[in-house]
Amino acid sequence: MDTVIEPGMEIRVEGLCKAFDDRAVLRGVDLAIPSGNFVAVVGGSGCGKTVLLNHVLGLLQPDRGRVLVAAPDLPGCPLVDLADLGPNDLDDLHTHWGVVFQRNALFSGTVLDNIGLWLEEVRHLGEAAIADIAAEVLGAVGLPAGRDFLDSRVDSLSGGMAKRIAIARALAMNPRCMFFDEPTTGLDPVTAAQIQDLLLSTHGDAASGLRTTVIITHDKDLLSRLRPRVVMLHDGQVSFDGPFEAFEASESPIIRPYFELMPVLHQRGAGG
Ligand SMILES: Nc1ncnc2c1ncn2[C@@H]1O[C@H](COP(=O)(O)OP(=O)(O)O)[C@@H](O)[C@H]1O
Ligand SMILES: [Mg+2]
Repeated sequence: MDTVIEPGMEIRVEGLCKAFDDRAVLRGVDLAIPSGNFVAVVGGSGCGKTVLLNHVLGLLQPDRGRVLVAAPDLPGCPLVDLADLGPNDLDDLHTHWGVVFQRNALFSGTVLDNIGLWLEEVRHLGEAAIADIAAEVLGAVGLPAGRDFLDSRVDSLSGGMAKRIAIARALAMNPRCMFFDEPTTGLDPVTAAQIQDLLLSTHGDAASGLRTTVIITHDKDLLSRLRPRVVMLHDGQVSFDGPFEAFEASESPIIRPYFELMPVLHQRGAGG
């Protein structure tokens, strides 16, 4: 397996191309994400944001180009090409990543079942250890950690609660990277603001260490509030990559109209 030593780099996407049925979605995406980065991937609906994420997660294979990710289990934490990994290697890598899918991907069952899933299957922890971690991560996402709540079924939860559970489940493995696909889409403005704040708190701080955080979003409020590094996909390529301040101020004919039209939740009213 080819490895590349590049200290401080978490994810490197090189010349990534992907087409579905001859329709090119990604046409040469280049992107470098250093460890501890806080980055938002933006772009019009259907431009390939989720497709890009799925390549980084190793769920899709590139037609051309490659995706390199840091492999914390190898000496020196080198970058490895996902294409070189077998299913077991990929499973090992996934234990270092927390993913919050757009529709949360909770399975029918209790809060504790969902949070304990990987702790039991991957870490082989027992009930008591799982309950301890569940209490800790539920606290981190602002949910109660009492027995009643742990035993409640996730099917009956509101959108905001389900999102928090999905974030808590991702945190349970204490991942070095967190990936969020449209974490605030479909939430009311108050809940969306709470989730935005959670994205910052799960990112960590200088004292306890920073995670790498990648957020796919359409949410202008999120950008204005969190001021991340912004990567814009357009026409299958990265058309902007820089600080939010530069994105917001850009007069580019691609960025300007997109930014003006990005939905602002509080103008759409609750539930919008
Ligand atoms: N598995 C797939 N098969 C065929 N087309 C797909 C597949 N996944 C995504 N696409 C297409 O790729 C384009 C980009 O999709 P996506 O990345 O989901 O957009 P978004 O930027 O909104 O997340 C869309 O036109 C979508 O229909
Ligand atoms: Mg998407």
